[in-house]
Amino acid sequence: MSKRKIAAGNWKMNLSIQEADKLVTTIVKSQRDKSVHTLIGVPFPYLMEFKAKTRYMDKVDVMAQNCHHKASGAHTGEVSASMLASIGIEYVIIGHSERRADNNETNDIIKEKVDLAFANGLKVVFCCGESLKTRKAKKHIAHVKKQVKESLFHLKKADFDNIILAYEPIWAIGTGETASPEQAQEMHREIRDYLKTKIGTKSKNISILYGGSVKPANAKELFSQADIDGGLVGGASLKADSFVPIINSFS
Ligand code: 13P
Repeated sequence: MSKRKIAAGNWKMNLSIQEADKLVTTIVKSQRDKSVHTLIGVPFPYLMEFKAKTRYMDKVDVMAQNCHHKASGAHTGEVSASMLASIGIEYVIIGHSERRADNNETNDIIKEKVDLAFANGLKVVFCCGESLKTRKAKKHIAHVKKQVKESLFHLKKADFDNIILAYEPIWAIGTGETASPEQAQEMHREIRDYLKTKIGTKSKNISILYGGSVKPANAKELFSQADIDGGLVGGASLKADSFVPIINSFS
């Protein structure tokens, strides 16, 4: 994958399938800029339905919101990377801060997930980001680099062709408080420079998304920063009224 304009929605644990169906239909009809790649993070039970619905669409695709860190076995209620691959899913979100917090997912566990995702031919949307406490202590850059290093730096250079990164400061998720374009750009540049130490100039081609209270009012300014290639959007992706203007915010 080369660097792209990406508007990714993460529905998390929201929407009935009927609500979701209406939303996807409207999104598909209303996307103006055909060079934008729209991704939708769909709950597991709806994945096959929406994969089928978007199958012939160039610019819209679905993502799973997670996969398990073991290949298979006695893990009731879990979903494996190979199951996702077997139903034709191409993208999986790994390392979201909500999963890190709710399920004690460490950098090591996330690394195992990344490996299984790649072993099954999936593309990974890798999330990283710091807490408010870490930012206040001015350790946010070191923290994010550690997340990237411990979960991704064992990979081969070629694997990075199949990674999208998403910087999501935890203090900005669902809080209405967005990182300023300068704060986000600073971190995105740090991440890209850090990737360069591992994969060289290829780092220029990696898409790095910003997530954390992205809305129509701030999307344009965020997306116009040099190292911000789009957004990973939670709350505002649940309604066409807010997600469609975000998709159409790239200049
Ligand atoms: P909000 O856009 O609701 O802040 O959520 C961001 C997010 O966590 C996307 O994965």
